Amino acid sequence: MEWVSNILQEITQCKQIRDLEALRLKVFGKKGLLTSEFSALKNIADDEKKQLAKELNKVKQNIESLLTTKKNELEEFEFNQKIESQKIDVSLFNSVLSPTYGHPINITFDRIIDYFVGMNFSLKYGPLVEDDFHSFEALNLPKFHPARDMQDTFYFNDGMLLRPHTSPVQIRTMEEEKLPIRIISPGAVFRRDYDMTHSPMFHQVEGLVVDNSKEINFANLKYILEDFLTYMFGDIKVRFRSSFFPFTEPSAEVDISCIFCNGLGCRVCSNTGWLEVLGCGVVDDNVFKAVGLKDVSGYAFGLGVERFAMLLYGVNDLRSFFETDLRLLEQF
Ligand code: DAH
Repeated sequence: MEWVSNILQEITQCKQIRDLEALRLKVFGKKGLLTSEFSALKNIADDEKKQLAKELNKVKQNIESLLTTKKNELEEFEFNQKIESQKIDVSLFNSVLSPTYGHPINITFDRIIDYFVGMNFSLKYGPLVEDDFHSFEALNLPKFHPARDMQDTFYFNDGMLLRPHTSPVQIRTMEEEKLPIRIISPGAVFRRDYDMTHSPMFHQVEGLVVDNSKEINFANLKYILEDFLTYMFGDIKVRFRSSFFPFTEPSAEVDISCIFCNGLGCRVCSNTGWLEVLGCGVVDDNVFKAVGLKDVSGYAFGLGVERFAMLLYGVNDLRSFFETDLRLLEQF
């Protein structure tokens, strides 16, 4: 069996795991060298058979153990080589200047805020962890009111919650500030939702105007929103559609003519020619009552920032805003 010493030598000199596997098959495969020796045993006389089988088993053990040792050795070598080639020098200075990019959500926020600040609105921020009173009760949404299901809210055990909209800031502003009130409130909101157009955390901008004359009315609201939407989207048509919100009466949803097909009808607007962009209305008297205001009037509105950004930048999966992928940001 001179092949044995040849094979042992080949294994010892082997440099690749792939070649080692070929050698293993050459010995132990179906028609392998050792396999053939074992099957040849049946033609051998009984007295010699025992001795030969013993020898073959010894050869088998030798080759197997050498294969195992060699395999471990090669694996370690390849692993070290891989580590070496993937080494990162964290102290290396990057001489190629990479530009910074605004996140589309921030760019959209900035544009919205710019408009309203220019219209003499102030900025007001509220807590993300809210109580029931500010989130619902004071907004004319009593406990067990079916309209509470309009938002799927995250609750904590102690009765606190993650605000599902920015509307609680309306209440906090009326509690804390003197009239006249003219604010917008940008910020994060949370709902139990996750698909192409919903994410458990997203952003809204709330608007509220209140004064102690009875003069603030739907016409004021309509003017400012038409002007705002033209500022955001350019030459579009604006339509007010009667709707329901517990905190406003009358309420409306506002549509713009589809910016992708100019109102002709396409996939984005589901062939209606219109895109819904915000909710608004004249503040309900029950809301004023909840904060102890009398003989006042006002309007309010609320919009989703991701929705605006999707339309402005033609992004069709809202979740891509939260992927923190630089290749996405590089496009803006
Ligand atoms: N809070 C509403 C929502 O999250 C949006 C909204 C609608 C806000 C009408 C308002 C309003 O202030 O008047 O869907």
